[in-house]
Amino acid sequence: MGRYDNMSEKRIPVIIDCDPGCDDTAALLLAFRCPELDVRGITTVSGNVPLDKTTYNALRVAEAIGTDVRVCPGADRPMFREAVYAPHVHGEDGLLGIPLPAPKRKASFYKAWDFIYEEAAAQEGELEIIAVGPLTNLAIALAAHNDLAGMIKRIVIMGGAAQGGNVTPCAEFNIYVDPEAAGMVMKSGIPLCVCGLDVTLKAYLTAAEIGEIKALGTPQAELFAAVTEQNCEKVFCPQGAPLHDPAAVLFAADSSYFTVQRCWMGVETTGTITRGKTVTDCWSDAQKDPNVELVLDVDRERFAKTVKRLMERY
Ligand code: BDR
Ligand code: CA
Repeated sequence: MGRYDNMSEKRIPVIIDCDPGCDDTAALLLAFRCPELDVRGITTVSGNVPLDKTTYNALRVAEAIGTDVRVCPGADRPMFREAVYAPHVHGEDGLLGIPLPAPKRKASFYKAWDFIYEEAAAQEGELEIIAVGPLTNLAIALAAHNDLAGMIKRIVIMGGAAQGGNVTPCAEFNIYVDPEAAGMVMKSGIPLCVCGLDVTLKAYLTAAEIGEIKALGTPQAELFAAVTEQNCEKVFCPQGAPLHDPAAVLFAADSSYFTVQRCWMGVETTGTITRGKTVTDCWSDAQKDPNVELVLDVDRERFAKTVKRLMERY
């Protein structure tokens, strides 16, 4: 029996907190076919596009996947700042205008932060969060429920970068959008794994590999290819399309082919040109107690094979 046939092992209960978004969509498609993960629900946040659109997209993608898990809307803006969006990357609708049927379901009446809290209680210390958008929902959840930090096993974050940035020379989009929220999560004491640009730019698929997935011919494979191929061979990743959010999902499912280093990470909130920088200390004399597992590298061939094998499961 192959790894992907054995669904009987205990799976990790997770909530996916996201802002779909093209790579968020790819991440959702993969997460629901990871045998290691039991996706308990989807929470949405303002990020790539406004909250009403990220929620609508999450519902459309959930329908394409064939899941009826709750989709719980969260924050419609960052904690203390004006919203920032990325329509130049994801299109005005967040999904590049790709035609997907309107969802039959509506979003849940649960707010993201209450759903996270209730699910954390229900899972009795086992719940993990995969956060692939700005961290506003998690920060609000921590502020609203002061016993929550001790109830979450781990958060896997797509965000930040030990070096460089994609929105500014210093900052990655998810952290740039809501640096105060990110700072609160970094200080929460919850075990954190950070998949920033350091690893996600190495977690790419080539145009040929995306073509192989498209050729699987299922509606889900075609959706995966449509949201992924537009990001191919840009200047920041000439080899292919980086799968930022999927990297966090695959790391959460199986970290054995990723390289990780424990370090201290904080978020710059006051600098004028350094807003959202994830200040990363792996070895300085000033290093404080490590608060994150920083994911720095991935076996790309294995990553690409895993993505394809998961998409074959539709
Ligand atoms: C991150 O920013 C968003 O645009 C993507 O969805 C991803 O979560 C990459 O910097
Ligand atoms: Ca995202």
